[in-house]
Amino acid sequence: MMSAAKLVETKDLGIHFGGLQAVQGVNFSLNQGELRCLIGPNGAGKTTFFRLLTGVHKPSVGSVTINGTPIKDLQTHQIANLGVGIKTQIPSLFDNLTVRENLWLSARKRNARAEADRIADEALETIRLAHAAKSEVAKLAHGQRQWVELGVVIAGHPKLILLDEPAAGMTGHERERTAELIRDINRTCAMIVVEHDMEFIKMIAKTVTVFNRGEVLMEDAVDKVLSDQRVKDVYLGKQTGGVTL
Ligand SMILES: Nc1ncnc2c1ncn2[C@@H]1O[C@H](COP(=O)(O)OP(=O)(O)OP(=O)(O)O)[C@@H](O)[C@H]1O
Ligand SMILES: [Mg+2]
Repeated sequence: MMSAAKLVETKDLGIHFGGLQAVQGVNFSLNQGELRCLIGPNGAGKTTFFRLLTGVHKPSVGSVTINGTPIKDLQTHQIANLGVGIKTQIPSLFDNLTVRENLWLSARKRNARAEADRIADEALETIRLAHAAKSEVAKLAHGQRQWVELGVVIAGHPKLILLDEPAAGMTGHERERTAELIRDINRTCAMIVVEHDMEFIKMIAKTVTVFNRGEVLMEDAVDKVLSDQRVKDVYLGKQTGGVTL
């Protein structure tokens, strides 16, 4: 019997920008439903790796398959249709619409109106902002905005969510809520989470992949990774400022 395909599989994945090897030789795989954290110093290639998974960048070498489908010749919207959702740090919300309207518009892209209503309400519950359904997004606090961004991704019903620094700029309390939210969402959806905040990583991580200079430095259980001398060295060498392991 054939075993189920990995949700994500990359083979010898690499991309260079001119002479700069931003990602190289990456053999990465993610199981269905898995939650993986990705860490590494500034410029390690984490965001570039996400852009290779979503098709924003095409690899210089190697390949990416999503659920067994090679994405080489697919456009970004076709890759999204395979079930890949991403939340970047670039704001994507409609500021003068309400929280629920933003979620509804996202759900409506692939669903009839009644179904979009249901999905929007479900997403509101998931991000725990039902009480703010009618608030204009422009009036929200930073943390709440980020949760709405996450809700917009969830409303697309992805199989995989990529989160690039979801806790950036958040207060301690907001970070804790975000960690809870990620654990909740992971019950039905695989995720790859990039974060610099190691306290946050400890709240959510099981397996952690460490990038350095475009390559995978190590991949192991969170406690092993955070106590590994090589990992400490690459962070110290980069003076990331404020990152403590
Ligand atoms: N479009 C691009 N053109 C040229 N160089 C790029 C481009 N995108 C990224 N790079 C370079 O590739 C390297 C990896 O960048 P990337 O943004 O993936 O790192 P990162 O791990 O996400 O870093 P950070 O933690 O600071 O977000 C960096 O040296 C960056 O300057
Ligand atoms: Mg980045």
